[in-house]
Amino acid sequence: MSSGHFITQFGRRIEFVRGYLEFIDRTMGIRRSAEPDHVLSSQNQVGGHGNLDFQAVRERTQGANRTRRLSLHGFGTRLSRFHTFYQMLRDTDIKLPFGRHLDIGCGFGLQPRLIRAFGVAENTTGIDIIERASGIDERHLGRQYRMLKWLRPLENWQERIDAKPAAQRGKYEHLIREKVPGPRLIGKRQGIFLDRDIYRHKVVAPFKLDRIIQGNVFELDEKFDLVTSFTSFEWFDTRDILAKAALLLNEGGILYIWTSNWWTETNVAGLVGHFPFAAQRLTREDYFRYLDQHMPESAEALKATYGFFTPTHPTLADWIEAAYRAGFVPLGHRSYIQPQPFTLKWGVHALAHALHNPPVLAEVLEDIHQFRPDVRLEHLMPYTYGMLFQKVDPARRMNAETLSRATAEVDIHYRPTGVAGRLMKRLARNVLLGGR
Ligand SMILES: C[S@@+](CC[C@H](N)C(=O)[O-])C[C@H]1O[C@@H](n2cnc3c(N)ncnc32)[C@H](O)[C@@H]1O
Repeated sequence: MSSGHFITQFGRRIEFVRGYLEFIDRTMGIRRSAEPDHVLSSQNQVGGHGNLDFQAVRERTQGANRTRRLSLHGFGTRLSRFHTFYQMLRDTDIKLPFGRHLDIGCGFGLQPRLIRAFGVAENTTGIDIIERASGIDERHLGRQYRMLKWLRPLENWQERIDAKPAAQRGKYEHLIREKVPGPRLIGKRQGIFLDRDIYRHKVVAPFKLDRIIQGNVFELDEKFDLVTSFTSFEWFDTRDILAKAALLLNEGGILYIWTSNWWTETNVAGLVGHFPFAAQRLTREDYFRYLDQHMPESAEALKATYGFFTPTHPTLADWIEAAYRAGFVPLGHRSYIQPQPFTLKWGVHALAHALHNPPVLAEVLEDIHQFRPDVRLEHLMPYTYGMLFQKVDPARRMNAETLSRATAEVDIHYRPTGVAGRLMKRLARNVLLGGR
C-alpha cells in the first residue's frame, strides 16, 4: 500500500490517499502501455493535423476494419449516446430530417447509422483516420436493436439489483446486473438519464452509412446540414476543429458534440494517481514529473494518453465561447455527472469525492487555480458534455430592416374587425385573462 506525498511546482504538498491507486487498479485498471490510436492518430499528440502520418496509422491499425459484429454492450452504449442527442434535438424546434449528415471521428460508425435508420438524417457520411466502419456487419444492427427491446423487461430487475448493497446480491443477480447491456443502465452509469422512448425509435431506413471516408477531416471540403461527433472532439485542438466544423456546415446547419470533460478525474483519458484529480490539479510538467517519480511502470502510457487530449483543456464555458468565435450559437448543452460514486469500470467518480470527502474538491480547486484561475467547482463534476450549436454568419448585424421584418412576424395586438371578433376578444379578456 503506497504512502507519500508530492510537492507541486507552486510548493503545495499533496498527500497520497492510502489505498487510492490500488482501488483504481482493481476497478477501472491503470494503463500500462500506450494504445497506437492514442499515439498516432491524435493531432494533438503529433503536433498538428498536418503532421498526421496516414501510412504509419494504416500499418499500426491494419486489420481494424475486418468484418465484425459489435457486442450488444457496444451497440447499447452507442444507442444511449444517440438518444442523448435525440433528446436534446427534441427540446428544440429543429425540423427533422436533416439532409446531409457528417459524423467526425466515426470509429465503427454506429451513431451515424442510428441517425440514418431512425430518420434523423437522410444521407450520412462517416469520416475517420482509422477505417473501422466498413467492417461492421450492418445487417446485424437491426437485430441488435430488436434484441435490446426484447431484453427491456430485465431493466427494472437490473435497477432493483443495482440498488442493493453488493454483499446482498446473489450470483445470478450479479450476472444480470453486469452483463445485460440495457442502454438506459449504461447511460445512467455515465449520468445520462434516458427516457423509455429509447425503445420507440421507428426504423425508417437501413442501418447503413452512405459513405465512409478514411481520411483527415481537415482535408474534407464539402457542405453538410448536420455535423455530429461522439467522443472525438477531445482528440482535436478545440479551436481548429470548431473552425473546420463551421466550414463543413451550410448556414443554419447544426453541430452536435458529445465530448469528455478534461476537468473530471474519470474522463476518457483514464489518467490517475495516488490522490484525487492527479492529472487535473497538476500542470502537465508536474504530472509528468509525478509519473516519473511515483508511477514509472505506467509513465510512458499515461503521458501518451495525456497528449492525445486537447491541450486547451476546455471547460464547458470555453467550449461554448470557442464555438461562438468559430461562428456558432449555442442551442442547448448538458453536463452529465456520474451518479454512482464507485463502480467497477470507472473507478472513483467526482460524486464520490464530493460525498465522501467534501473538503477535497476545494483543495483540488485551489491547486488548479495556481495555473487555471477560470476553472470552477461545477467543472470538476461532469463526466461528459453534450452541446448543440447552430451555424450563423458571424458578420451579420441587426438593423432596422431585420427589426421591421421581425415586427411583421410578431403578433403584437389582436384588433378584431367584425362583431364576432370583438365579442371573442371581450370574452377572452374577461374570462381567460381575468379582465386585464
Ligand atoms: C474515441 S474515437 C470515437 C469513435 C466513435 N465516434 C464512437 O463513438 O464510437 C475518436 C476517433 O477520432 C478519430 N480521429 C482522430 N483524428 C482524426 C482526424 N484528423 N480526422 C478524422 N478522424 C480522426 C480517431 O481515429 C478515432 O477513431
